Amino acid sequence: MSNLIPFLILTVLISIACGESQNLNAQQKQGKKIYESLCDKCHRLIEPTQHTDSEWKLAVERFGTKLKLQQSDKDAVVQYLIVVNEK
Ligand code: HEC
Repeated sequence: MSNLIPFLILTVLISIACGESQNLNAQQKQGKKIYESLCDKCHRLIEPTQHTDSEWKLAVERFGTKLKLQQSDKDAVVQYLIVVNEK
């Protein structure tokens, strides 16, 4: 019985850790997908933490337009980046 306790603690810790990175809403998940599939075409994928919210808005507007993304896709990418950049 006491063998179960470390197992339970581990399970709780894993679910907390996973919960944090999976805490994206549908729009942000869509943005992540677009970001990871299109924004690495010309350069390596830039870490979201490397730019502030306002810098990301400008960059997504600029490169998103180049990629001919719809406004709703650009919005999704921005929402994803600004929720994960921690700035
Ligand atoms: C058509 C090619 C191309 C695509 C596609 C592209 N980029 Fe870029 N990106 C560049 C080039 C070239 C530079 C460096 C020179 C400059 O700033 O114009 C750059 C620079 C950047 C920078 C600033 C430099 C840095 O290291 O932080 C950011 C931010 C950026 N891109 C974001 C994006 C995002 C977000 C997307 C997807 C929406 C994207 N890029 C897609 C060509 C591209």
